[in-house]
Amino acid sequence: MNLMNSKKDFVIALDGPSASGKSTLGERLANSLNFIYLDTGVMYRAVTLAVLNMGVDVSDEDAVSRIAEKLDLDVRPPSIADGRSNDIILNDDDVTWTIRTAEVEKNVSQVSAYSRVRQAMTRIQRRIGKRGNVVMVGRDIGTVVLPDAEIKLYLDASAEERARRRFLELRKRGKDVEYKDILQDMIKRDQFDSSRPIAPLKPAEDAIIINSDDMNADEVFQRIMGLLNEFHKD
Ligand code: DC
Repeated sequence: MNLMNSKKDFVIALDGPSASGKSTLGERLANSLNFIYLDTGVMYRAVTLAVLNMGVDVSDEDAVSRIAEKLDLDVRPPSIADGRSNDIILNDDDVTWTIRTAEVEKNVSQVSAYSRVRQAMTRIQRRIGKRGNVVMVGRDIGTVVLPDAEIKLYLDASAEERARRRFLELRKRGKDVEYKDILQDMIKRDQFDSSRPIAPLKPAEDAIIINSDDMNADEVFQRIMGLLNEFHKD
């Protein structure tokens, strides 16, 4: 099948732990292939922000689930050139950067472990996936959301390398952060995401696993494009 010039729609499921470079890679792949790009982490972050804004206790599973089931969320093309890949609109408010705060980060793992929250998000993601020509990025896209995706990628890197990248990125944005705190938070979040009973973070059996410890973003992208071309030969 010639994936690059394929007349047939196909889907790329791209999973991996936080700061593994999934979003950068996913966006680049989507741009090159002229596909829709959907970062599903944004959806769990938006539910978390809605919960915090409403003053609801994050441990109240029923209340949190009801918020997720009625979430008024829109993902639009970027209206401002401030480094964003999309406008994230929650209840008519632009929350593109607010969903990236430490407060959301601290609570998002718990929110995303609730089964009804996952069901509500999965339903929306599958609807988008069905349209084809999508690069969907997350933790459970290849395993649960789109198990029939034609291409499944799992992008990994050591916790130390991912923490180093996140540290440099935050310092560049002028944030006063410590490497060891970032590493600690990252390990904690990964453990939580990997050990939850529903849709844990793990590669699908038929996923191509790429470890990017010794590769920069460009090398990872070239490697994947090479793999897509290999499919072309089959
Ligand atoms: O990729 P991210 O850091 O923006 O994701 C935020 C959180 O959402 C992360 O702790 C795991 C969760 N998540 C998930 O459980 N399933 C997905 N498909 C995407 C994200």
